[in-house]
Amino acid sequence: MVDKLTPVLSANWGTKASWTLAAYKKTGGYKAVAKALKMTPGDVTGMVKDSGLRGRGGAGFPTGMKWSFVPKDNPNPKYLVVNGDESEPGTCKDMPLLLASPHTLIEGMIIASYAISCHTAFVYIRGEVLHVHRRMQAAVAEAYAAGFLGKNILGSGYDLDIIVHAGAGAYICGEETALLDSLEGRRGQPRLRPPFPAVAGLYASPTVINNVESISSVPSIIRNGPQWYSSMGTEKSKGFTIYSLSGHVVRPGQFEAPLGITMRELLELSGGIRAGHKLKFWTPGGSSTPILTDEYLDVPLDYEGMAGAGTMLGTKALQVFDETTSVVRTTLRWAEFYKHESCGKCTPCREGNWWMVQMLRKFEAGTAQPGDLEKLEDVASNIGGKSFCALADGAVACVTSAIRHFRDEFEAGYTTPAWELFPYGRSALFEVPETAGDQTKGAHA
Ligand SMILES: Cc1cc2nc3c(=O)[nH]c(=O)nc-3n(C[C@H](O)[C@H](O)[C@H](O)COP(=O)(O)O)c2cc1C
Ligand code: SF4
Repeated sequence: MVDKLTPVLSANWGTKASWTLAAYKKTGGYKAVAKALKMTPGDVTGMVKDSGLRGRGGAGFPTGMKWSFVPKDNPNPKYLVVNGDESEPGTCKDMPLLLASPHTLIEGMIIASYAISCHTAFVYIRGEVLHVHRRMQAAVAEAYAAGFLGKNILGSGYDLDIIVHAGAGAYICGEETALLDSLEGRRGQPRLRPPFPAVAGLYASPTVINNVESISSVPSIIRNGPQWYSSMGTEKSKGFTIYSLSGHVVRPGQFEAPLGITMRELLELSGGIRAGHKLKFWTPGGSSTPILTDEYLDVPLDYEGMAGAGTMLGTKALQVFDETTSVVRTTLRWAEFYKHESCGKCTPCREGNWWMVQMLRKFEAGTAQPGDLEKLEDVASNIGGKSFCALADGAVACVTSAIRHFRDEFEAGYTTPAWELFPYGRSALFEVPETAGDQTKGAHA
C-alpha cells in the first residue's frame, strides 16, 4: 500500500466539532494570522510566491503572482473574492473543506486580504448548498466575536469585513468574471478581458479572485514557511492538494496528497475498482478535462503531467468509470449539463451545445446515421476555441476525448442502442428497481 497522503487542509476534519473556532484554535488555528500581521504585506505575498502555490480552481495560475498584479497606486478600494461556487461535475472538495473547517478559509482570507490591502472580502458560495452557506456564516460570526474580523484585528490596526454571499446555482457563475457580475447583482455572464479583474474587477476596482482551496492553503504556508510547502510536489507543481475520487471505486472520497501522485496510487489508496470490474476511463479534473484511459495510470497528477497527456489537472475531480459504463451515455449526460448551463451570451456555445445533445441522443438510441460522427466532430470544432469563455472548451473536451478513445463505441450507435450494449443497471452503484422503466434505457428512449 502506498503511503503518500499528506493531510494538512484535511488534518483536522476528524476532530470533534472541527468547524468551531475553539476546535480550530486547538489545532494551531489563527497562529498564522498573528504571524502575518507582524510582517509587511509585500513579505506575505513574497512567501506565497516562494511557496509555488498555484490556483486550485482549475487553471493553476500562481497565487502569489496574482496578488502582486494588484496595482498599489490605484486609489479605489481593493477586493478579495473567494470562489466557492464549485459546480463542475464530479468536483467536491471545496464544500467538504468549508463544512469541516470554515475557519481555515477565514484565516487564509484575512492573510490574503492583508497582503493586497483589502478591507472588504467576499465568499461566493453556491446557494443550493445551504448547510455550507450557514456553516460559513456561523464561522464568520464567531471570528468577529473573537476579534479576528472587524476593526483593529489582534491590535494590529488592520480592519477587515467578510461578506458571505449565496449564488443562485449557475455553473457559469464559477467563471470569475461572471461571478463578479452576479456579485454585483446582475445576471452572471462572463466579461470581456482586458481589463483583467486585478485592475478592474468588482465595482470596477482591483480584485483578486481565488478558489477556496487556494486561499485555505495560505495559513499553513505562513505557519510552516514556503520551503516546507515547496518540499512537497513536483518541480513546477508544488505542495499538496485535495484529490476527490468518485464513481466505481471501493472507497470514494477526499485524498490529500502531494501533487504528482499517480492515479494508480490513488486507486490503491481508495481500495481499487469495485470487485470483479476493471477501469474503463476517468476524468483527471471534472468533466471539462479530457478523459483518460488505463494507459495513463502512471502519469503524475500534476499540471505538467496532465498537460503532457493531452488533458488538464482541473479541479482534481477524479471520476472513475468501469467497463460496464457506456461512454456514449456518459458523454451525453455531460453534454446535457453544458447545454443547460450555457449562459447564452455567444452563439457557438448556446447553439452548438444544443446540437451536440441532439446528435448524442441519436448515438445513445442507436439511430445515428453513418456520417453523423463526423458531423458531431464538425459541430464540436466550431465551438471549441470559438466561444467567449472556457465553459465551451470544457463542453467540447469531454465529447472529443470520448470519441478519440472510444470511436468504435460511437460507431456502434449507427445500429445498436447504448443501453443494449451497456445495460445501465450494471453500471449503477445501487440496485435499479424494476419499476425504473425507461430510465434504465435512457431518459429520451
Ligand atoms: C465555466 C467555469 C466555471 C468555473 N467554476 C469555478 C468554480 O466553481 N470554482 C473556482 O474556484 N473556479 C472556477 N472556475 C475558474 C475561475 O474562473 C478562476 O480561474 C478561479 O476561481 C481562480 O482561482 P484560483 O487562481 O485560486 O484557481 C471556473 C471557470 C469556468 C470557465
Ligand atoms: S461560451 Fe457559453 S457560457 Fe461562455 S459566454 Fe459563451 S454562451 Fe456563455
